[in-house]
Amino acid sequence: MSQTILIETNEDLQKIYSLNLNTFVGTDVIHRSNADDAIALLKILPQVGLVITQSKVGAEDTAVNIHKFIKSEGLATNLIILGESSSLASEVLCLQQPVSWEVLIKQAAQHLGVSLQDAMNKVKPDFLPVGVFYFYDITKTPCDVYIRIKKSPNEYQYVKRIHSKDIFDKTDIKKYEDQGLKEFFIPKDYVQYFTTFVTNNLVQKLEREDLGMEERILTTANAHEIVRESIQSIGFDEASVELSDASINSMVRSVKDSPQVGELLKMLFSNKIAYAYQHCHLLALMCHYVLSKQSWYKPEHLETLSFVSFFSDVTLKSSLQMQVSTMLDLSESNLTDEEKRQVMTHAKDAVALLENHPDANDYIKTVLLQSHGKLDGVGIEDNPGEDLHPLSKVFVVADAFVKILLNPSLPSTKKDILPILATRFTNPSYQKIIKALEQKFQ
Ligand SMILES: [Fe+2]
Repeated sequence: MSQTILIETNEDLQKIYSLNLNTFVGTDVIHRSNADDAIALLKILPQVGLVITQSKVGAEDTAVNIHKFIKSEGLATNLIILGESSSLASEVLCLQQPVSWEVLIKQAAQHLGVSLQDAMNKVKPDFLPVGVFYFYDITKTPCDVYIRIKKSPNEYQYVKRIHSKDIFDKTDIKKYEDQGLKEFFIPKDYVQYFTTFVTNNLVQKLEREDLGMEERILTTANAHEIVRESIQSIGFDEASVELSDASINSMVRSVKDSPQVGELLKMLFSNKIAYAYQHCHLLALMCHYVLSKQSWYKPEHLETLSFVSFFSDVTLKSSLQMQVSTMLDLSESNLTDEEKRQVMTHAKDAVALLENHPDANDYIKTVLLQSHGKLDGVGIEDNPGEDLHPLSKVFVVADAFVKILLNPSLPSTKKDILPILATRFTNPSYQKIIKALEQKFQ
């Protein structure tokens, strides 16, 4: 089988490109993160047939450097550039961004000497992966569902596991998960239909009056995961707007009526709720605690803060990124430079995403932009000033509280957490917010 080196820093694109290059072009894809790493590999594996690389990674002229190496060594390795490269445009294929995987596989097939016909023939059953959690809150599906099995080194087989008429429940789905399954596969033509079906089911469930507290929290957590994944891959569409609205309403409802923090934590942990939702839910709850002690409090304040909490980390990919609370956390973390950059700009990035959400009003955008204490949404202010919006101040303190609470190596009781906050946030209105939290816990 041919080998292809891929340099693509966007993790979602990297996954989509690799999966389709492997499935349809039958090439083994090796990921590298910059020119030096790719060149080091080419020195050991000069037979690599193709390098697909971003034009630049950060400030590095990645494509130019790799091209120089291939030329100087006289390698037969082909090159495809993702994005523009003015100096190479006359000799190397540069694909204009954004590059769809369909275009990429056609070009890769040509460069590797696999005829387009061969590649397209392999396209026969065209399946797309769907995370197992999409199946948690449904009991039937509108189409057949498959799992993927490796038949030979470059061929996959799709085996039908759930028929469109089957009835199942979460226990059945958990059994697949326990065996290590992370994704089911859906025929490509049905994916839109399937996600609409799941969204409608979830919205209906979240709007049910009789939904118990635990079931409500679990369903909202699952909806949060689906919204996050969908936004990260395709941005806001009608389904994710509808699902996020129903989820936020459901969260506000369970926050107003919440069990004590200890009991809530037990519920979140015993159900293995993802960090992203643990943080989001507890953050909304802490905001509620503080707001309920303010004389100016109005119900829409909780709605605003819950909305912000739901989307505040939506562009972050890992819980390690979401756990960062201070500049020191960031510098001491094991995150790559790219991941750190994502943390630094995530408040601003989330606001940009919310431009496409019809219910994101100016209050929401302001608080979201200031959610790490910076007026412009870039970076983290460890001890923010008095110039933030009053709701942003509540959000920032609540966020710091929850991050300590959820960090196993830091104190987990309010008695120990509040003094840490009081040392960090020295300005008067923040001290008042910390006092309000203290009163709430007494
Ligand atoms: Fe954040």
